[in-house]
Amino acid sequence: MKLGDIEIKLGAALAPMAGVTDLTMRILCAQYGAVYTVSEMVSAKALVMGDKKSQKLMAGGGGNAPYGIQLFGGEPTAMGGAANSITSGEYRGVTCDFLDINYGCPAPKITGNGAGSALLKDLPLLSETAEAVVKNSNGTPVTAKMRIGWDEEIMTGVEAAKRLEAAGIQMLTVHGRTRKEMYIPGIHADEIAKIKAAVSIPVLANGDVTSAQTALNLLKETGCDGVAIGRAAMGNSWLFAEISAALNGEPAPEPPTLKQRFATMRKQIYDMCEDKGERIAMQQARSYATWYMHGLRGAAALRRECCSLTYFTDVDKLISAAWRVQEMQNKEERR
Ligand SMILES: Cc1cc2nc3c(=O)[nH]c(=O)nc-3n(C[C@H](O)[C@H](O)[C@H](O)COP(=O)(O)O)c2cc1C
Repeated sequence: MKLGDIEIKLGAALAPMAGVTDLTMRILCAQYGAVYTVSEMVSAKALVMGDKKSQKLMAGGGGNAPYGIQLFGGEPTAMGGAANSITSGEYRGVTCDFLDINYGCPAPKITGNGAGSALLKDLPLLSETAEAVVKNSNGTPVTAKMRIGWDEEIMTGVEAAKRLEAAGIQMLTVHGRTRKEMYIPGIHADEIAKIKAAVSIPVLANGDVTSAQTALNLLKETGCDGVAIGRAAMGNSWLFAEISAALNGEPAPEPPTLKQRFATMRKQIYDMCEDKGERIAMQQARSYATWYMHGLRGAAALRRECCSLTYFTDVDKLISAAWRVQEMQNKEERR
């Protein structure tokens, strides 16, 4: 699959997640075979007003996979301005292979300002924002991520997708829920399939992919060109290798050992400390570490330990505690 001059391999992409898809997460997921990665969403308005934190969110790229920077906003002028600043190299350390536009965020503080999934209720403005980004992206390809509609009454997914294609958007990722459904219940694969059938550009299906089998099922149900993974990638970057192998007819890779899992967690948190400073990184590391404990024996008690991580040295104490719990449980099972 081509995005401008960039070749996107068959497999799973890392979906953008605010507070999650930071530089370390992007590098890690790319290393395990994410076919591309996307930044946390960045406010176009904040960027054009010179906000330094927004610049930091985009910096550093995406490791050894193509990298997209995701913009959100409901003002075409700000969206165009941000697209131009990024793609003309205005920000030090910020480069990308494509820009992505957020038409899916359901958070009231975003939709209340007419951005994210609110644009699924205002299709003329959706077109204008997309056109502004495409026009000002200096030849960098532009993609979009959307939901299937606002709610069961306002099911604008198909119409929105056609408009986005007409505006010059080169690829879509469709999260198979309405804005009203937020993150539950299950996704509507049939609605993603309708969107895929309505446009000629590549479409990636998104929502609830947690394994190679769920990825294969979703591709079969929707006819899409790939999948994007959000939550299931947290603490489980190996999932990309598993899905890539399944889609390309290769043998399934060995699942990570406990030792690999802890070493990966430690390295990810170490790199976060290097990138953001220990104080900020360790606050975020509490949730990162929690993901890695998922499914382990004694996970509930270990999760409590994760919540008190303060210094990087606490990560080694957590790993020792996690080993102790696993060994104790092993001994009990052998009795
Ligand atoms: C913590 C969190 C943050 C998210 N932030 C973004 C974001 O910045 N931009 C975006 O387009 N979607 C965002 N999403 C939505 C995901 O990209 C994805 O569409 C959604 O989680 C469904 O996919 P999944 O079931 O694989 O998680 C976020 C989701 C979560 C859970």
